[in-house]
Amino acid sequence: MVEVLEACEEALDRAASIIRRGGLVAFPTETVYGLGACVFNQEAVAKIFEVKKRPRFDPIIVHVSNPGQLSCLCSEVGRTAKKLIERFWPGPLTLVLPKSRLVPYIVTAGLETVAIRMPSHPIALELIKRSETPIAAPSANLFGFLSPTTPEHVVEQLGEGVDMIIDGGRTPIGVESTIIDLSSSPELTLLRPGGLPVEEIEKVLGRKVVVSTISKKPRSPGQLPKHYSPRTPLRILRNNKKFESKGRIGLLAFKQPRRQGFFDVVEVLSPSGDLREAAYNLFSCLHRLDQAGLDLIYAEPVPETGLGRAIMDRLRKAEGISSVEEAR
Ligand code: TXA
Ligand code: MG
Repeated sequence: MVEVLEACEEALDRAASIIRRGGLVAFPTETVYGLGACVFNQEAVAKIFEVKKRPRFDPIIVHVSNPGQLSCLCSEVGRTAKKLIERFWPGPLTLVLPKSRLVPYIVTAGLETVAIRMPSHPIALELIKRSETPIAAPSANLFGFLSPTTPEHVVEQLGEGVDMIIDGGRTPIGVESTIIDLSSSPELTLLRPGGLPVEEIEKVLGRKVVVSTISKKPRSPGQLPKHYSPRTPLRILRNNKKFESKGRIGLLAFKQPRRQGFFDVVEVLSPSGDLREAAYNLFSCLHRLDQAGLDLIYAEPVPETGLGRAIMDRLRKAEGISSVEEAR
């Protein structure tokens, strides 16, 4: 059995020594659980790809415990990046910047850019500090499947592949970080809506962020049309679409539904309709629905503002239909 340890001093020291010796540790961040390895150890990073069954073309985010660590990871940090870092780090914002020579290409999947974030979760920060290295860490789930917001989700999906899991309870934000590409500055591109609402970034910079559309060759596999998926088929409830009623059907409701008798299982994201609470509950609700032996999950759409953008992005990808197709 993989070791799942409460985040005490001793556990953190053991986890840090596992990272330094080239092992893999799953740890909580404020967004979702990450599967971490020393960024400079190529064999350790290769193990991440194996354990997650992640294609090698999918680059990994590097986690730092202070902005000073950027100097060894990027060749250049422009004014816009500095402004965003000052305002939003530590927190759920990942910046894509030109990489330094020290970052191995296995981390960036051959790209000349590297994605970096400073998490705000105290356990993540403490682990990075004690490991004495930035930590490369994708979400601690199998490639393409639901992201983990509890240690149990990590055990279910990755089990024995991990050397240790640090238990920090449920992750407080519940959806992954927002990813902004600054590598072709001054242009600024949103690669993935996430835990930091894009409106807040626009307010600080005083300009619009361009939303990257899905292309045949995505800049970020989080942009692939099918991702973040339960094993059970999922459909977003749309008024104009025919309703399927055969088999066992579940509902992912945004608010407390008025009539729920039709559905075999109902999960509610936020009884009062609060988007933050909905994001916090999103993956836990989806994990439970996925384990309920259903034939189909219907998901109610949520308003696309603030964290609602990240929620709808994950639901569309769980459905396997890109936003571009939907817009057509
Ligand atoms: O909140 C998060 O970001 C979590 C926690 C663990 O920090 N991590 C996470 O990692 O969501 P992952 O690997 O599941 O998603 C990272 C996304 C991927 O879609 C990847 O393609 C993109 O970031 N990415 C990484 N490096 C990139 C780069 N150089 N250019 C463009 N996209 C990049
Ligand atoms: Mg992921």
